[in-house]
Amino acid sequence: MSATPAESPPSAAAGIPFAAGGIPSAGLDVPALREATLGMRHARHLNAAGASLPSEAVLRTVVEHLELEARMGGYEAAEAARERHDAVYAKAARLIGARPEDIALVESATVAWHRALDALALPAGSRVLAAASSYVSSAMHLLDRARRDGVTVEVLPVDATGGTDLDTLEQCLRTPAALVTVAHVPTSSGLVEPVERIGALTRAAGVPLLLDATQSLGQIPLDVTTAEVDIAMGTGRKFLRAPRGTGLLYVSAAMRERMHPVFPDVRGATWSGDRRVEVGPDARRYETWEAAHALRLGLGVALDEALALGVPAIHAYVSGLAARLRAVLAGLPGIQLTDPAASPSGIVTFRREGEQPRDTVLRLRAAGVHVTSVPASHGQWDLGRRGIDAVVRASVHVYNDETDLDALVAALTGTEREGGRHAWAAAPTLT
Ligand SMILES: Cc1ncc(COP(=O)(O)O)c(C=O)c1O
Repeated sequence: MSATPAESPPSAAAGIPFAAGGIPSAGLDVPALREATLGMRHARHLNAAGASLPSEAVLRTVVEHLELEARMGGYEAAEAARERHDAVYAKAARLIGARPEDIALVESATVAWHRALDALALPAGSRVLAAASSYVSSAMHLLDRARRDGVTVEVLPVDATGGTDLDTLEQCLRTPAALVTVAHVPTSSGLVEPVERIGALTRAAGVPLLLDATQSLGQIPLDVTTAEVDIAMGTGRKFLRAPRGTGLLYVSAAMRERMHPVFPDVRGATWSGDRRVEVGPDARRYETWEAAHALRLGLGVALDEALALGVPAIHAYVSGLAARLRAVLAGLPGIQLTDPAASPSGIVTFRREGEQPRDTVLRLRAAGVHVTSVPASHGQWDLGRRGIDAVVRASVHVYNDETDLDALVAALTGTEREGGRHAWAAAPTLT
């Protein structure tokens, strides 16, 4: 699918250091990846942690299936695409070192979280140890379980790197606990949590580990088996470059035996007698029968693309690009980096002196550079505890290159070209 760009992206100002330096491509054909990404023709998109740009192949797959549904009917189209649909489970499993039967396909990471946490029996007094990196909706759900069911939520402190303090975790695990939960990469910074070390501690203590991999799937290698992760979830639209409205849930076979779905559905359970319901053994027990098949097929193509590029290569490129951006921002007067020390992900957070992050976002948007802002209300245990009310968040992917970073820095420092206001300047800012 090709489109005529409404307007070319803003050109980079001369004399800014990125283009001169060159970022190692980690074997990726970045120009080809840019070319195959429609959105790159319209703006400098540095918001993969919000929703990344899908490839044209993903877009085409979704549109073609919607067209097929319109032509032959949704059930008939699903029948025609059954093999490709069913193959999505194996692709998702391959991405994280799981088995296809361990995967449920859902609408979002939050839906996955709810299905998992609600299926977990947490009697009153159960201790849940939650990392400071926990996502807002996860934290709110935990706090609700505390209020409703008497679950005790203990927020784990961070160490000097900004990641979960492993010594404290080890101590906390000496007293029986029901669950440890951590976000691999939070919404509010470039931090990458030491998942394998956390997994080793939880496994030794016999406590299940729930990993929120929403910001890491597709950009950071994850093997749930070697990392000793029992439950994991993620979303399609971020670093996986899949359509919005797609999400994944992984539940290990051992945990599935302990996690009865709260609402059994015909998708993963059988009404086998007048009053008999048999819940199936695989993770589809956490799904509902109705689903957006077009989006799932798009997710399948996005998974193919991530697997073909290789997550280690994506990580090497994306983290190199983000590290370069951090280094240059660190040298700019009036810019304060807000990432903790252990921040090798593709997310870069900062603030501009004397300006609210939301206003910085609007100013950059007016120059055709798309970033977003994250308020403390999206991460009270991280930003709130660090006394930061909001940050600007730039996040890069394989379709970004040095020219996008140049454009960001130029817009930040006010050196963007004259007349750099673009048609999309009027668009509302999305957080
Ligand atoms: C770390 C993290 N976890 C979970 C979520 C929720 O994902 P979703 O919006 O797909 O439910 C987000 C969304 O930004 C996130 O950043």
